[in-house]
Amino acid sequence: MRKRIAIFASGKGSNAENIIKYFKNNSLAEVVLVISNALNANVLLRAKHLDTQAVVITKEDLYHSETALQILKKEKIDWIILAGFLWIFPKTILDQYPNKVINIHPALLPKYGGKGMYGMYIHKAVVENREKETGITIHYVNEKYDEGKIIFQAKAEISATDTPESIAAKIHLLEQQHFPKVIEKLIITNESSPSLGGG
Ligand code: GRF
Repeated sequence: MRKRIAIFASGKGSNAENIIKYFKNNSLAEVVLVISNALNANVLLRAKHLDTQAVVITKEDLYHSETALQILKKEKIDWIILAGFLWIFPKTILDQYPNKVINIHPALLPKYGGKGMYGMYIHKAVVENREKETGITIHYVNEKYDEGKIIFQAKAEISATDTPESIAAKIHLLEQQHFPKVIEKLIITNESSPSLGGG
């Protein structure tokens, strides 16, 4: 049976689209659901375009009731991927999905993580601090922003002429290149030794 992936995303959705496409004809897994907390999120249009079911949830659904968890259970979701989802993930769901909730962060954690550190805020800070490199981090999700165990990182060099915008483009390429493959590898590892919880 193909593993069933749900993607939580509330932004542009370029990662969500890339992951959906990657697993379309993949015998291992498929993306069956996109969950967003933003009614106008572009990711919802992308999901529709790709014939992938999408639902919008509220804070109430996620934190103060079991609605979100029930949606995941009803869809028999095995893996949860966060791709541009900015809310803290609730313990109720994490407890049901140990080592099965994965996030991508557009920086080399533990640097440039935490509340308020997302998107261009990160790339601007990286330029202001004259960093020589930045990158992406794929990590397990826990109840704190960007603090779960790191699974994978890829680096990009920063040159003197780089701007926050050009860094964003480099990060975007790294995300497109690595995120689906890292998810696939995690699922494969977990299939062969489930006790490891995939990592
Ligand atoms: C990505 O940069 C990802 O690293 C971060 O949020 C952004 C989402 O971009 N967590 P998109 O919505 O997938 O285009």
